Amino acid sequence: MTATQHQRLLIVDFGSQVTQLIARRLREQNVYCEIHPYQAVTEAFLNAFAPLAVVLSGGPASVLDPDSPRPPEMLFRLGVPVLGICYGQQVMMQMLGGRVERGDGTAEFGRAYVTPAGDALPLLEGWFETGREQVWMSHGDHVAALAPGFAVYGTSPAAPFAITADPARKFYAVQFHPEVHHTPNGARLYANFLREAGFTGDWTMGAYREEAIARIRDQVGDGRVICGLSGGVDSSVAAVLIHEAIGDRLTCVFVDHGLLREGEAEEVVAMFRDAYNIPLVHADESALFLNALDGVSDPETKRKTIGRLFIDVFQKHATQTGGAEFLAQGTLYPDVIESVSFSGGPSVTIKSHHNVGGLPEKMGLKLVEPLRELFKDEVRALGRELGLPDRFIGRHPFPGPGLAIRCPGAITREKLDILRRADAVYIDQIRRHGLYDEIWQAFVALLPVRSVGVMGDARTYDYACALRAVTSVDGMTADYYPFSHDFLAETATRIINEVRGINRVTYDITSKPPGTIEWE
Ligand code: XMP
Repeated sequence: MTATQHQRLLIVDFGSQVTQLIARRLREQNVYCEIHPYQAVTEAFLNAFAPLAVVLSGGPASVLDPDSPRPPEMLFRLGVPVLGICYGQQVMMQMLGGRVERGDGTAEFGRAYVTPAGDALPLLEGWFETGREQVWMSHGDHVAALAPGFAVYGTSPAAPFAITADPARKFYAVQFHPEVHHTPNGARLYANFLREAGFTGDWTMGAYREEAIARIRDQVGDGRVICGLSGGVDSSVAAVLIHEAIGDRLTCVFVDHGLLREGEAEEVVAMFRDAYNIPLVHADESALFLNALDGVSDPETKRKTIGRLFIDVFQKHATQTGGAEFLAQGTLYPDVIESVSFSGGPSVTIKSHHNVGGLPEKMGLKLVEPLRELFKDEVRALGRELGLPDRFIGRHPFPGPGLAIRCPGAITREKLDILRRADAVYIDQIRRHGLYDEIWQAFVALLPVRSVGVMGDARTYDYACALRAVTSVDGMTADYYPFSHDFLAETATRIINEVRGINRVTYDITSKPPGTIEWE
């Protein structure tokens, strides 16, 4: 658990697919919350965490099964508001003296409509203004009898106990998922819950910045920190924050592997060295990487070669900077949330951290991870708070192996140069048309195919390229971006006119799945 001075809300995770969305909805309302798997939530944990309110998530289990997951009884004696969602509702009812029954085919899955019942409830302020609310249901079991003190405040045809509450104890229990997009007024319900619990919305990036700086100073003392900069948003924000905390005892190492986009190295160097005055080692190791990749066409071999060299190079430059005890990383909250695993019994799976290929162990370094409580959009907000330019903060993600995995087949310097220029034209087009921020990631892949064309009166025999642009929330799934035909035609013309070596442009309209975002 991380120390924080903010009001804190605890989310007990029973393994719902959408638990992270609960945290998103609460953080959006400037409330600090943490997700913990139910197994970790013991009486001692509750005492130490001291939440101002608790949310019990949904989950795949049935409270009617022996050994079904439960929070400690003591949770209900803390005197703080509790909101139970789906499985969380059922567990509340069962533990507080109500009754849950197995689904008998009357359960609701998907969209449903809840109508008001009983008295007005502060939790439902702003609800039912049109007489009913759309909600998202996903449950098998249902509540059959209420626990003492509870009453019904909203019903749906298949869930008579859709919204229940014991207003005196501020216990609320709903059958649907207010955190998902398909419950359009769900944020209002969370806002009401937070107000009832006394949250003042003290989780702001300004406050976070001050706290994070104090914590970094505490952890690092008068030690030294090194940070591998990729030019991406996470490592950049981490570096600027750490620099604000410990000044020149931070050294950044930017490894240029020769697989960067046009102008990328210059942009990073200008920002860190010139704008922020942060000590930066700009390690131009492109010859080393490109020589090692010469003739390599297998995607996994490319990745492994790049990963191995990156570690060697980083280690060499880090050692040259005079030795540091700490390694900074831009680990984010989704990387560290412990997930609930039901398939493997009650064990807890901890997602592995994105550390740089085991470097901390190899170099005997301790980790500084100032972003490990933040979601991606919060990192962007923190970056803005730290004064990083919007253009930089909003940049599309760029993979560690860089252009190597956008150049299927064997890599040559010539191909990389062609790819870099085409990519720059494409991104310029997207920016000119004001589409950059609508797109999760956009890039060109240079195909290992030459085709015949005609330019002027001459025959050409040049490379084909594929444009890729996708929308996504987290990179796990993606849809291709629906550019207009005019945009595509204009872009193709510009690439063919401005980039020597390409005479054919295609647009990749594959979703993920079944495709992936990158070509390799
Ligand atoms: P895929 O191609 O798997 O990509 O759909 C999903 C997201 O991950 C990025 N990606 C990588 N990032 N090293 C990275 O740091 C890699 O080897 C790598 N491969 C894919 C990709 O750019 C997209 O954002």
